[in-house]
Amino acid sequence: MPELRSNQWYAGQDRNAYLHRAWMRRGVPGSAFQGRPQIAIANTASDLTPCNNHFNEVAESVRQGVWAAGGVPLNLPVVSIGETQVRPTAMLWRNMAAMAAEEMLRANPIDGVVLLGGCDKTIPALLMAAASVDLPAVVLPGGPMLTGTFRGVPLGCGTDVWRLSEEVRAGTLTEQAFLDSESSMIRSRGHCNTMGTASTMALLAEALGMVLPGTAGIPAPDSRLLARAHDTGRLAVELVERDARPSHLMTTGSFHNAIVALAAIGGSTNAVVHLLAIAGRLGVPLGLTDFDRIGADVPLLVDLQPAGRHLMEDLHRAGGLAAVLREVVDLLDPDARTVSGQPLVAHLTEAQIWDREVIRPRAEPLRPQAGIAVLHGNLAPAGAIIKPAAASPHLLRHRGRAVVFDSVEDFHERIDDPDLDVDADSVLVLRGCGPKGYPGMPEVANLPLPAKLLQQGVRDMVRICDGRMSGTAYGTVVLHVSPEAAAGGPLDRVATGDWIILDVEGRRLDVDVPQEELDRRPPSAAMTERLARPQRGWEQLYVRTVLGADTGADLDFLLGSSGDRVARESH
Ligand code: FES
Repeated sequence: MPELRSNQWYAGQDRNAYLHRAWMRRGVPGSAFQGRPQIAIANTASDLTPCNNHFNEVAESVRQGVWAAGGVPLNLPVVSIGETQVRPTAMLWRNMAAMAAEEMLRANPIDGVVLLGGCDKTIPALLMAAASVDLPAVVLPGGPMLTGTFRGVPLGCGTDVWRLSEEVRAGTLTEQAFLDSESSMIRSRGHCNTMGTASTMALLAEALGMVLPGTAGIPAPDSRLLARAHDTGRLAVELVERDARPSHLMTTGSFHNAIVALAAIGGSTNAVVHLLAIAGRLGVPLGLTDFDRIGADVPLLVDLQPAGRHLMEDLHRAGGLAAVLREVVDLLDPDARTVSGQPLVAHLTEAQIWDREVIRPRAEPLRPQAGIAVLHGNLAPAGAIIKPAAASPHLLRHRGRAVVFDSVEDFHERIDDPDLDVDADSVLVLRGCGPKGYPGMPEVANLPLPAKLLQQGVRDMVRICDGRMSGTAYGTVVLHVSPEAAAGGPLDRVATGDWIILDVEGRRLDVDVPQEELDRRPPSAAMTERLARPQRGWEQLYVRTVLGADTGADLDFLLGSSGDRVARESH
């Protein structure tokens, strides 16, 4: 075993070692300070992060595993972000959570860490932190919730909220029925059960090699999760003994595997911005176009909402991530290793599909090409993305007149105005919703359609935004337009009535306005007026330093790694 980092605190006979040991003697044996790996459990349990509020029980199983392997478990509550609760948007706090976790891991006498995350931003933030402090680490995803049903039909978290609320606006569902469904959606502990961002990032953490293989996707109430938590605790001790650090495991090949997995599972578009941010911490050269290059031709094999029908409990029953990846094993990097010490592909040999309705064999995909398409053009010089699998095929090549909204508030004020000049061929454009603009890049890009068009039976339109879309949403939505309007991107000069041209096959997003005219136009005054200008605190720091979505929307000074060294003693 390499020299333990925690020995810098606990080894020796001097006053400082005495101080560090004495305050930790709260019933632990004296041997706890004698060469035993100190394993933090970075715990995002919080009543205000309801998807993670069962984590203390999970952490208890991790603790037992750590003790059993000869380590010392240490509960470390870290910043937790409840996707549905925090305002103005959870994404504003991802980098703060990552920075705080990184600093607390570095500042404390810790040799290794179990990263306990679930709700959307918690796994990305923890992985960013672990990458920058580069201590031996393993992710333990907290698991999705079980399937709830309403009137005999399964309800997908998020996805069905959008669907049902649109039905109310279209007049095909009563408001009372909508409200009645509310108590049916969240059937159990766990995170959203669709292929939203939480499910996606848990599965991608495993594809990256950072989860004990076979763990991601186990439903939160399933007793096997606690058994895996125990095993993960044991593994964390072993990782310290092997000196297996995130920078050793999350390589270019690991990100390649994560991008293949993202396409095959039909994962959330939010994974793009999170994987870019994690890679940025590691110095792995990953760019937006890599998602298209690696993932575009990967088939969609998982029939889960929002792209399909089923939910996470079904995916686990059908064979889980391993069964999916086995179908595309030839597309994976064979050398990318996992926390087990073995390559990812070595864990796929026994995998089988148990339900071919949920996981399709490679020869019968749901869609032959499922990856994220990266668009460029005079509307998105640094890129924009679209998820063709969640879009309407007839809209993937489209020319329509822009109807522009300068803020979310402007959108809500006007979208249902019967006099709004909009038809099914129009392109809805929302700007001022990027990282700097909102601030925090909210999930607002899946704009609700105008009520008058819904009532005519229109169910999808082309929408364009510099913000994000919920992983549980669907539609022909162009997202993450970069540079964002608030950073001077051309989206800030588009006017209502301009012709917009979307060509997904050609990977283009353009406005049919001569470049000289576009350059001459001033930025939208109405948008500029609404932009956030925080004067203090985190928001001020964030707006001043956040980078574009095309590179992961991290803060400019958080790129890279500081390692685990601490320069000075505390006394
Ligand atoms: Fe937590 Fe969806 S709200 S995962």
